[in-house]
Amino acid sequence: MAFLVVSSSLNPNSRSRCLARAAFARLEASGIEAEYVDLQEYSLPLCDGSAAYAHPAVGTLAQRIREAEGIVYGVPVYNFGAGATAKNLIELTGSSWSEKVVGFLCAAGGNRSYMAVMGLANSLMLDFRAIIVPRFVYANDSAFRGDEVADEKILRRIEELVTTVVRFARALNPLPERPR
Ligand SMILES: Cc1cc2nc3c(=O)[nH]c(=O)nc-3n(C[C@H](O)[C@H](O)[C@H](O)COP(=O)(O)O)c2cc1C
Repeated sequence: MAFLVVSSSLNPNSRSRCLARAAFARLEASGIEAEYVDLQEYSLPLCDGSAAYAHPAVGTLAQRIREAEGIVYGVPVYNFGAGATAKNLIELTGSSWSEKVVGFLCAAGGNRSYMAVMGLANSLMLDFRAIIVPRFVYANDSAFRGDEVADEKILRRIEELVTTVVRFARALNPLPERPR
């Protein structure tokens, strides 16, 4: 089983993707099996509660989410909430998130939308009994230099988030065959 890092922004210059890439690099550097999904590489339909579920990319992503040991979710903040693409993936893949340990990485334009993912987090908890790691990474433009996360504090927070996602997931679902 692998941890899954998902970048959900469709902005070609996405900042939350930089956070997601940094989290993925962190997992890899720790020798933890991880996979990376960028929604920019999938032409996901908008969830209509009907035909959209039959789109082949929906099945592929649902399976990757279902099989993930835990999920680190990169989310853009739009209109004081999680961007529609982040919500759309959850609408499309629903029960694949059941009982997953989920951590959030958020990119925002300002400092005041730090509760933006709570609606999405609540729905994951209530609908799918997901375990939300209560350590969010929240970064605005000042944290980045080019495509890199340059702010040491944010890098530390990414490290803490990733470590906690792994710790929670493995505590809740120990794999007996994993080497100590
Ligand atoms: C339509 C739209 C709505 C936005 N709403 C907010 C907001 O409510 N609060 C905020 O801090 N930033 C807001 N922003 C700024 C984005 O959060 C910022 O550009 C961030 O980098 C988006 O993530 P991304 O770069 O991964 O796409 C908004 C940007 C757009 C395009």
